[in-house]
Amino acid sequence: MEDRLIVRKIKDGTVIDHIPAGRALDVLKILGISGKEGMTVALVMNVESRKLGRKDIVKIENRFLKPEEVDKIALIAPTATINIVRDYEVVEKRRVVVPDEIVGILKCVNPLCISNSPREPVVPRIAVVSRQPLKLRCTYCDEEFGEEALSQLVSQ
Ligand code: CTP
Ligand code: ZN
Repeated sequence: MEDRLIVRKIKDGTVIDHIPAGRALDVLKILGISGKEGMTVALVMNVESRKLGRKDIVKIENRFLKPEEVDKIALIAPTATINIVRDYEVVEKRRVVVPDEIVGILKCVNPLCISNSPREPVVPRIAVVSRQPLKLRCTYCDEEFGEEALSQLVSQ
């Protein structure tokens, strides 16, 4: 594949590969990257992939991801691979994993849910009922919802 590289290899940083086509900008939003921070970022969108048909890739130099960021990426890009690059070599490659329960990163969509009460700080807990299609259920109020709830991760 070397001769087909659209963007050069990076020296140190993170390559998020196998992102479903069209989701690269959502991945950047999750990471809080607007382009004004000064770090070098490469976006590749809608390139051919043997596994996915089409895919996006995000390469970020000198940036490594926090577990919470990886969990969020898993939700909006469940096919993604996170590659950690040091001195041009991929030293770690991990598939993202959608956990059985999502703790603290997604709010329940039910405004009356105890986990949304402004009076007591409750860490939201949401069970993953199905992965494809994504079906979620709040552990507190049993409200069920789907992919539409993920908009809260990428808006602001
Ligand atoms: N990559 C990069 N800079 C490097 C090393 C790798 O930008 N110094 C990128 C590659 O272009 C690729 C991804 O990181 O998009 C993973 O690299 P590699 O494991 O070498 O590629 P594949 O074997 O094709 O990965 P996979 O099996 O996960 O598809
Ligand atoms: Zn709830």
